[in-house]
Amino acid sequence: MGERSLYERIGGIYAIAAVVDRFSDQLLKNPKIVNANPQLKEWHTQKYKTRLPGLKFGRTLWVASVAGGPYQYTGKPLSDAHFDLRIPPEVFDEVSAELGRTLDYFKVPKREKEEALAAFNAQKPDVTAGARAKAKR
Ligand code: HEM
Repeated sequence: MGERSLYERIGGIYAIAAVVDRFSDQLLKNPKIVNANPQLKEWHTQKYKTRLPGLKFGRTLWVASVAGGPYQYTGKPLSDAHFDLRIPPEVFDEVSAELGRTLDYFKVPKREKEEALAAFNAQKPDVTAGARAKAKR
């Protein structure tokens, strides 16, 4: 029998959706994220009203796919999805810290927490590409 996937060890789609749901709500309450730049401010004070449920769906699908679940993320590449938000590296790190706190809230064990955070942090170059492009101009 092979090793169980992160998806299975973390508790499957219901556990992942619960984590993403809380994580996404916590981000809206974090001033370091909400006020990071005009684009993020607009999203977290206005656009979220119609886009938050869809974002939670996309994030849940992405995690379920990357963690080895029976789903395929078929949304936009993360570099495209985040480009116009111009997310600076230090804001990425704050979002990562928020994810860590959410995983603690759900008492996700150390090994699974580390694997989930590593998968998230590996996206930093793609997710922050828009901020770099702006800096070059
Ligand atoms: C591993 C890191 C990340 C993953 C996996 C991720 C995942 C996603 C996904 C799947 C989408 C939807 C894409 C689409 O189908 O259009 C999205 C959009 C979005 N992400 Fe991320 N994200 C990450 C990092 C971040 C960070 C650091 C922020 C900073 C606050 C952020 C804020 C947003 C926002 C506001 C949207 C919505 C854009 C819109 O309204 O279309 N994401 N993200």
